[in-house]
Order: sequence, then C-alpha cells, then structure tokens
Amino acid sequence: MALNHLMHPRNVYKNRPPDFRVLAEKYPDFRQYATFAPDGKVSLDFHNSDAVRCLTEKLLKEDFKLDVILPVDALVPRIPQRLDYILLVQDLLNASNLYDNVLGIDIGTGPSCVYPLLGAKHCKWNFCATEVNEESVAVALKNVEKNQMNDKITIFQGDESTFFKEIFKAYPDKIFSFSMCNPPFFNKEECEERFQRSDKSDFKNNPNASNTPRAPPSSATVARNSELWVHGGEVDFVTRMIHESALYPSKVQLYTSMIGKKMSISPLKKVLEEYKNLIYATHCIAQGRTKRWVLVWTFNPTIKVNSRLANKTLSFSKNKDDVISFFCQICKWANVEVSKHSSGYLICFIPSSKMLSFKPWKTKKRKNDNNEVPKKFMKIHSPNTQDRAEINSNISDKNNADSQLSVTEVTVNQPQLVDAKNIRLVVNKNANSSSQLNVEFFNNDMAGFRWLESLINYVNGNPNIFPK
Ligand SMILES: C[S@@+](CC[C@H](N)C(=O)[O-])C[C@H]1O[C@@H](n2cnc3c(N)ncnc32)[C@H](O)[C@@H]1O
Repeated sequence: MALNHLMHPRNVYKNRPPDFRVLAEKYPDFRQYATFAPDGKVSLDFHNSDAVRCLTEKLLKEDFKLDVILPVDALVPRIPQRLDYILLVQDLLNASNLYDNVLGIDIGTGPSCVYPLLGAKHCKWNFCATEVNEESVAVALKNVEKNQMNDKITIFQGDESTFFKEIFKAYPDKIFSFSMCNPPFFNKEECEERFQRSDKSDFKNNPNASNTPRAPPSSATVARNSELWVHGGEVDFVTRMIHESALYPSKVQLYTSMIGKKMSISPLKKVLEEYKNLIYATHCIAQGRTKRWVLVWTFNPTIKVNSRLANKTLSFSKNKDDVISFFCQICKWANVEVSKHSSGYLICFIPSSKMLSFKPWKTKKRKNDNNEVPKKFMKIHSPNTQDRAEINSNISDKNNADSQLSVTEVTVNQPQLVDAKNIRLVVNKNANSSSQLNVEFFNNDMAGFRWLESLINYVNGNPNIFPK
C-alpha cells in the first residue's frame, strides 16, 4: 500500500508526485524509459535501474536545480525519501531555534552526495560529509564542484574505524548543528540473500530472495558493496556511532541516523539507554511502499528530539531563590538521578523499577467536610529502613495534625503500569516564576511526570523534610 500520505507535509512530492509525462516531453533520455498508454498515461518501469537513475537525475534537476552524476553501479537515492529525512531534521532544528548558520555532518554521503546537496540547496545548510569508498569520494567531489557548492560542502575521505574523529580534528572550534546518516542496512549474509552479485561483484536485487524479513523492494536497486552491507549490519554500525557520539557530547547538537529495519530499533534503544545524560526519540518516514525510521539523540537537554513534546509545570509551595537546586535536592533525597547540563537544564532519569516502588497515595475527601481541595501524598517504599521510618512517620504526623486527613481515608493509587523502560524528563526553570519548573516529556511518559508531581506534592505538604 502506498504510504505517501505519511510523507512530510512540506515534502514537494507529497501532493505532487513526479509527472512522467512532463519529464518525457522535456527530456529525450528520460523518454526512452517511458511507456505511453493510449489513454495518455505515461508510466515508468521501476524494475529498470537505468530508468530509476534517469528519473532521479531529472527530479534533482527539475525540482532542485541540481546537476548530479549518479554512477551506474551505485545506489540511486530516492529523492522524496531523502527529502523527508532532511525536513524532519529541519523541524527538529527549528523546534530548538537553530535556524542560522546550520552546519551538518553526513556520514557515508555516497557518490551522489545527496543529503549535502539537497540540504545546501533546499535549506541553505553547510555540510561536512564523509565517505569510505574512494571512488564514491571522487564522484561526490565532482558533484559538489559541478553545482558550485565548494564553499558550502566539504568532503572527507572516511575511515572505517571512526565516524566523527577526523571532522572534529579538522574543526576543533566548531559546534555542529546535526549529523545524519543513511547507513548500510545489512550484514553480508542478509545482503547475499536479498541481492545478486553483478559482474563487478557489486549487487542488484535478487528476485528469488526468500528468507528476507520484508518483501523485496518494488524498484530496482543496484549498489556497491559498502552501500549495502557492513559487518554486523546497521545495528552494529549505529551502535558504534552512538558510542563515538558519547565521546563528543557537545560537538554535535543533534545526532541522527536513518534505520532501515524496524527490528533494529529495539537493540539500538538499549544502547542509547546506557547513557543517562542522553535523550532520544525515533521517528518514522514513509514513501511509496517503504518505511524507514530515524533515530535522534542528543546530550544537550535544551535540544528537542521531537517537535511535539508535552510540556507541564511543577509547582512548589514557596518561592525559592534557586528552585533548580531545590529540585535537585529533592531528587537526591528520592534517589532519582539527575544530570545537569551547563545550560542549567536537567535530565531527570526515572527507572521504571523506581516508579513501582514509590507509590503515590491520595487522600479521599470526607463527605461532609468543608470544600478544601484534598492534598496528594506519597508513601515511600525505600529499601533504606531509616528513610522509610522517617518518611512514614512524617505522613502519620501530618495526618494526625490535620483533621482532614485520617489514615482510614487514605487510598492507594494503583502503581502506574509502565513497561520496562526508563523515563527521561527535561526540567528547566520557568522564566516567569521562582516557584515553578517546566517539564518536557513524551506523551507516553506521562506516568513519569505524574510521579514527579506526586513527589513535589509530598515535599510541599511535609515542610519537615527540608527544614530551612
Ligand atoms: C546506504 S549508502 C548511503 C549513500 C547516500 N548517503 C544515500 O543516502 O544515498 C551508505 C554509505 O555509507 C558509506 N560508508 C560505509 N561505512 C562508512 C563509514 N564508516 N564512514 C563513512 N562512510 C561509510 C558507504 O560507502 C555508502 O556510500
């Protein structure tokens, strides 16, 4: 089923698919691949790799004024899909107010140099790109030259052992806005199953492929070895990229990589989870019959990994000179890990196990009491006996002191059932208030926010915990 309705709203091809009739009338070399039906329809045989390459050249020329050499033995980039990835990155940069002087990295740019050329032309970005295949580097350089982009795009001969090191060495003082990558998706065995070797010992689609996790692509794929496979496949490749990114947490604002297979996402999330000072998200991009995913991560909590995050406020009962430090103190008391970024933003990391052992309690309102709003409290199941005794006695003292709150009227909220994933919330100062903090989170991480809110309510209701 065509997935074009899922394309990015700003993708020029979303509501205006390529018009083969116009292209066939304008370009004789494209015309040779077109089929003209008596009803006036013009179609293209997507199983013919020359036809697909010719179409891509024409789209780049017609829609982006780019003149690009696409070698016959190399992967032909599908432009609508490449544009979707670029537009996603643009949305994320915009969400973080990174509009100006955008400098990106493209890992594995290929001979087409498609991301830097499209990004430079369509979004006015600058790029550093790497590529391990020497022939591809040579063609990429020609493509940059041919389109007079030498001042916007720099190509590096890449090295299999590292992704970023050479670029960072060449630009020690630069902070890059983002990095992107379309990695080789397969390992060697998967590749040999899905594709046939061509005469040059490169690959093209294998129409008889059987044990593939997904149906073979509906259009022709011809590619160089390094474009399709790498030891360990994309999981290994992107795992290495994540680990290397952690060595340079502040060199790139937003690290990203395309993921070709849905089953790769889960092991990669596990790798990202290893870093507590990291925030990540996955996005889906779709075009034609193909779905891909983009993994996005950052070590900078001021950077958005999703342009549509929920935003809520935590309120403290009294104004605080330094509400952030007070919040950190509370988290320390509750054994919640917080990492503080130089910007002052915090990443609050709540393991799901903690949420189950730290149960929110809520008081029921008496039927015939006055109209005061009931207060919420937490009952703490801490492994530390002293903590537990102290906190629970605080609750009892509070209950005895306040006639509205009797122990018999306390009900326990069922602990929120969260799956075995950890929750990360980004906490920062509310510019207009010294008694409020802003919290940003994914909608499906609401349980994490509720948990934090309960904790703050408990502290608000128990001044003895942090006496002045
Ligand atoms: C799937 S192709 C993508 C090409 C192009 N970016 C595109 O989207 O059409 C992957 C590219 O990554 C390159 N590559 C593989 N390992 C690399 C590495 N360690 N560093 C840089 N490039 C690498 C391959 O040679 C290949 O050109």
